[in-house]
Amino acid sequence: MSKKRIVIIGASSAIAEHCARLWAREAADFLLAGRDLARVQRVADDLRVRSPQSDVQTVQIDFLDVDAIAALAQQAAQSVIDIVLIAHGDLPVQQSCEQDIHLAEAALQINGLSPALFAEAFAKQLAQQGHGTLALIGSVAGDRGRKANYVYGAGKGMVERYTQGLQHRFAYTDIKIVLVKPGPTATPMTAHLPSGGLAAVDEVARATVKAIEAGKPVAYVPKKWQLIMLIVQHLPRWIFHKLNI
Ligand SMILES: NC(=O)c1ccc[n+]([C@@H]2O[C@H](COP(=O)([O-])OP(=O)(O)OC[C@H]3O[C@@H](n4cnc5c(N)ncnc54)[C@H](OP(=O)(O)O)[C@@H]3O)[C@@H](O)[C@H]2O)c1
Repeated sequence: MSKKRIVIIGASSAIAEHCARLWAREAADFLLAGRDLARVQRVADDLRVRSPQSDVQTVQIDFLDVDAIAALAQQAAQSVIDIVLIAHGDLPVQQSCEQDIHLAEAALQINGLSPALFAEAFAKQLAQQGHGTLALIGSVAGDRGRKANYVYGAGKGMVERYTQGLQHRFAYTDIKIVLVKPGPTATPMTAHLPSGGLAAVDEVARATVKAIEAGKPVAYVPKKWQLIMLIVQHLPRWIFHKLNI
């Protein structure tokens, strides 16, 4: 089996880090990108200890700088890329977004626009290369707008629509586009929430890596969220609007 080369955008994310640990078991090489180099270096140092055979590189980037995104993708593709995982996201306080439109703007940019642009930039490189897997982490929150988190959910909905378009574009090619939709998971993003009902991050990472390796178009993790969201999506409006979710 040849060594994989994996690019992770938002590499300091807990879910992404746990995915990287699984890939490190097979001595993959990594390019880890984040907004805060020190946080990404910490992840890189840990991976180097776990897998001394892995080549682990790090890069700091502004996640809203379109030119920097394009340049990073181009630079990353100087060597063959097997997998790109776009993992970053930020869960804002919904009520704060309702009070301050700039918070809503920032949340829409980092959860929707930024991952879409990273996906577009890396899709261009994978298209030139002719093969590879591009995976994005969306969310069950993107499945239907809810009053509890529709600003975040709208960003994730954009990721889903973008992913669908890329899947259509690359259908019947050797380029796989994967959308992973976690349910609530115990990571720093949800540290303020009651821990009951949160999935364990290593369980979510295992399912994420499995979906990526299989090139699955859409993967709910844990799987039970597929049924839950099927119901939520199909609830008639008159019932849905009575729910406090
Ligand atoms: N945890 C959940 O319940 C859950 C559920 C569904 C989907 N997701 C999605 O899963 C993905 C991973 O999240 P996680 O749970 O692993 O959370 P996490 O550990 O809090 O990681 C969030 C990541 O996003 C990065 N990030 C946040 N705001 C950013 C910004 N403005 N610019 C650049 N990077 C930014 C963080 O960078 P820093 O380390 O520099 O802060 C970190 O790498 C996200 O896309 C999230 O939306 C999570």
